[in-house]
Amino acid sequence: MEFLKVLQERRSVRRFKPEAVPEESLQRILEAARIAPSAGNLQAFKVFVARSEEKRKELADASFGQSFVAKAPIVLVFCADLKASSRVYAERGERLYALQDASIAATFAMLAAVDEGLASCWVGAFEDEKVKKILETELQPVAIFPIGFADEKPRKARRKELKELLKEA
Ligand SMILES: Cc1cc2nc3c(=O)[nH]c(=O)nc-3n(C[C@H](O)[C@H](O)[C@H](O)COP(=O)(O)O)c2cc1C
Repeated sequence: MEFLKVLQERRSVRRFKPEAVPEESLQRILEAARIAPSAGNLQAFKVFVARSEEKRKELADASFGQSFVAKAPIVLVFCADLKASSRVYAERGERLYALQDASIAATFAMLAAVDEGLASCWVGAFEDEKVKKILETELQPVAIFPIGFADEKPRKARRKELKELLKEA
């Protein structure tokens, strides 16, 4: 798909068809995350892939019961490796760069999903400790992405005008 069209077509989708995500599509989505830029090229993030219904339900519960999370056939969880970044960048790595690394990788993956004809929603409302326990990790969860074929076409969400976002420096 043309890049601008990918950006324009993307929506937060919260209803998914039960159809499986083709493995090749998933691999291309993960490859997009892999090639994302990162501070000092440390790639201080990990992506967890939840396929089983059990894990997806647990993640939905940990997301304050956002049940649509479990309805997607695949759920990705992007986690920041705060320690890896802090080893090189001290407090700035821990507080900022690792979170940015994970967020950029997640964004690349989200756009790649659209290019695959798939849909997703950035889920940021979850209980960190519950997610860590489910994934058996100490890494900091940043974003939970249910991924699947859309079963809805949400309207475009309103955006501010550019003039509201811009300031001359
Ligand atoms: C950091 C972040 C956290 C979000 N958390 C949630 C969430 O927990 N649950 C949810 O349904 N949507 C969540 N969203 C999706 C937003 O609600 C959505 O992006 C916004 O309303 C604009 O709609 P659009 O993505 O369709 O353009 C989140 C988005 C971002 C970027």
